[in-house]
Amino acid sequence: MLHGKRILLIIAGGIAAYKSLELIRRLREEGASVRGILTRAGTQFVTPLAVSSLTQDRVFTDLFSLTDESEIGHIELSRSADLIVVAPASADIMAKMAAGLADDLATTALLATDKPVLIAPAMNVRMWQHPATQRNLGILRQSDIAIVGPNEGDMACGEFGPGRMAEPQEILKAISGLLDTGEKDRLKDCKVIVTAGPTFEPIDPIRYIANRSSGRQGYALAKAAAARGAKTVLISGPTNLPAPPGVRVVAVETAEEMLKACERELPADIGIFAAAVADWRISNVSSEKIKKTGASGVPSLALTENPDILAGIARHKWRPRLLVGFAAETENVIENGKTKLKRKSADIIIANDVSAKSGVMGGDRNRVHVISGDQVESWDILSKEEVASRLMDKFAQRLQSTRKAAE
Ligand code: C5P
Repeated sequence: MLHGKRILLIIAGGIAAYKSLELIRRLREEGASVRGILTRAGTQFVTPLAVSSLTQDRVFTDLFSLTDESEIGHIELSRSADLIVVAPASADIMAKMAAGLADDLATTALLATDKPVLIAPAMNVRMWQHPATQRNLGILRQSDIAIVGPNEGDMACGEFGPGRMAEPQEILKAISGLLDTGEKDRLKDCKVIVTAGPTFEPIDPIRYIANRSSGRQGYALAKAAAARGAKTVLISGPTNLPAPPGVRVVAVETAEEMLKACERELPADIGIFAAAVADWRISNVSSEKIKKTGASGVPSLALTENPDILAGIARHKWRPRLLVGFAAETENVIENGKTKLKRKSADIIIANDVSAKSGVMGGDRNRVHVISGDQVESWDILSKEEVASRLMDKFAQRLQSTRKAAE
């Protein structure tokens, strides 16, 4: 079932660590390879020799071990895994993860990873119920960390309640759940609508008002959605880009056409509004080409506000379960993004700096801030393809958790 999958197992300090040895055995039976990291406290409960005998691999314990770093660095250690599992996850390691601390090999590997992470908390009932642990748990959930357990029952410390680590069988199930949904199936059975590109608002049959949007970020998002198995519709203003593989493109020109096309595609599971929609259109569009030599001299253009497509779809009776907007800003990027999240009733706003100095408009790269509720995640500068791929995984995970909550 897990053939060829590579698991990095971090064993933190806790009596439940003995169950992690059984977990290693079961993972290997399923065909996975397992690498072990023991925290300093972890070594007090199970020995490196026991872990290494079961993984049939070296065990990593020390961040500054010269031999380990020269043969396999801590970055490589976390990158070369398909999934990182922290079992048992002590209150201490959860707090460090929530705060982004990296003061040993385990926490450094956790901070350096871009792979999914699963934790199996295990601790004393009161430690589990402490507001600090619950607060950290909330932060980890919001950071898309998967959590299995803890279970309720008798504990090694003699108390009863929640805090027992999930059984190896349950952890195994959670692991296969996370790994089974490979990229190509992550959005299977979902419909995704993406808007992209600029809109052209006509002045007369020849001229129009437009903007500098290239449509690249939206096209990359549609490509990433289709690659994850979603039925994907890209509603695009005029661009020079080819249709991404597996994506149905609906070509539109004006904001009003874009809105109608979006409404026609409902219901959908996810709506991503990456288009740079013109805020205004010309209200006195001329049916003939306006002549320079006309008797009235320089023509004046009257403007009317365009419909806000994202806000309109947010009010629609078939509102997609996940609505994502973009906020292209030249100043106060995050603050303006937060305001837009509320004003447009979106679930997530991707705010980015499109000032001329950022080179984002028309460029290959993007630096985004993912705003959701009160949380802001600021990402490094990445290619628009990479941004799309990571965003789509985030959306898929978010959709899955809203589904679970609705069940
Ligand atoms: O208000 P602003 O244009 O900055 O909002 C940006 C977000 O709203 C983007 O997601 C954009 O696609 C969407 N939008 C829209 N219809 C409009 C204006 C913006 O869907 N008329």
